[in-house]
Amino acid sequence: MRIRIPEHLAIIMDGNGRWAERRHLPRIAGHHRGVEAVREVVSECRTLGVRYLTLYAFSSENWGRPEDEVNALMGLLIRYLASELDDLCARSIRFRVIGEIERLPAEVVRVLRETMERTAGNTSMVLTLALSYGSRNELIRAMRSLAREVAAGRLAPEEIDEARVAGALDTAGMPDPDLLIRTSGEMRISNFLLWQLAYAELYYTEELWPDFSRQKLHEALAVFARRQRRFGLTSAQIAEGDGPFEENSH
Ligand code: IPE
Ligand code: IPE
Ligand code: MG
Repeated sequence: MRIRIPEHLAIIMDGNGRWAERRHLPRIAGHHRGVEAVREVVSECRTLGVRYLTLYAFSSENWGRPEDEVNALMGLLIRYLASELDDLCARSIRFRVIGEIERLPAEVVRVLRETMERTAGNTSMVLTLALSYGSRNELIRAMRSLAREVAAGRLAPEEIDEARVAGALDTAGMPDPDLLIRTSGEMRISNFLLWQLAYAELYYTEELWPDFSRQKLHEALAVFARRQRRFGLTSAQIAEGDGPFEENSH
């Protein structure tokens, strides 16, 4: 069956802590199981032909969590990247990061850089992890870089348009997400891709992230495929093919 697949899928992977708490396990046990869900979703997205997969793994606000949880998450991240590198290369998946990378421990930064360098030539899918990421922080950094260009006389204020702003964000070069999935029943954005999600379809599921399986991904994609995106136009205009964006179908 051919269904319309989002070119860019973004996911807020939420509910690891609750998954563990329900089993009377430490929260980190939920994060461990969450990594298994990441593996399954990355693999399935690659198979389905999603071109960009962006996963919210650690927010700017998550720095405020207990130190042992933060440390455990950093350790998990290093082990995940080390264990996935060969597989990312075998599947031609390019790895990218968005967020305030400098705030991460030096060892994490080293592994992130190595993974990005080793996968830089891969072309089948771009896997982006949002780490130490907050959309407001990203916007502030983008505004500062544009302001510096203006102050240096290299850019006129009138030249700042959507493309310039998008190009100054961490996601420069990526299309905006077509679909945002959030697990664990919460219905909020939590400072994720505020600019980029302007016209994304939103999908929420009660499933906790460690329970989010290939099957659950297919359910979300089936709902997405039935949605009519209008981008501010009328249904009739969309039916006539006047929509500003072409959907990719596989
Ligand atoms: C999401 O799960 C993973 C991270 C934010 C790192 P949570 O850890 O937020 O899980 P809940 O929301 O407490 O259940
Ligand atoms: C959002 O989840 C961040 C990630 C999934 C990494 P949170 O659990 O941190 O968000 P809130 O606190 O419920 O809004
Ligand atoms: Mg949460």
